[in-house]
Amino acid sequence: MPLAPARVHVYAYAGVALLFLAVTIGAFTRAYGAGMGCGPDWPTCNGEIVPFTSDTATLLEYFHRVAAGLGFVLVSYAAYLALKTPGDVSVRLWAMATVVVLVAQIILGAVVVWYHLNPPLSALHTTLAIVTVALATGMAVKLSQSSARS
Ligand code: HEM
Repeated sequence: MPLAPARVHVYAYAGVALLFLAVTIGAFTRAYGAGMGCGPDWPTCNGEIVPFTSDTATLLEYFHRVAAGLGFVLVSYAAYLALKTPGDVSVRLWAMATVVVLVAQIILGAVVVWYHLNPPLSALHTTLAIVTVALATGMAVKLSQSSARS
């Protein structure tokens, strides 16, 4: 019998919302040619942890990373709770797949920057964004179904 903690799906949905925000800011980053707004640096942005600047390109790329990072924290926490859920194997499979693909997507984001927006890598980053959000949404739905039953 699934036993997900009562509000774990709230963390998962909040994580999905942040990933959606990351996707949206990412699209603006691309549209405004701001992909190198943090230079070829990762995880720092132009050598700084917090860039104090009014440069639009830097702010777009920086907040794209911030939204992705906060989404990662929430989605990973929800996945951690899901992995501790006894009984429901499908919830754990969604959680594992989500975290693996999200980590791969974040690493790929870094590689895109290191390789100065190499087009195939950038296209792969867009494609993996769809898979990442789909998996995180699936995990959130599974968790809310589990919570409702527990
Ligand atoms: C901290 C990790 C990340 C870094 C360093 C990063 C980096 C970038 C960069 C440099 C671009 C612009 C690419 C270009 O102009 O060609 C971009 C765009 C984008 N990113 Fe990320 N990204 C990260 C995480 C994520 C995550 C987690 C997602 C989604 C779940 C995501 C989704 C997108 C999308 C959808 C675009 C727009 C692509 C387009 O419109 O063609 N990124 N990212």
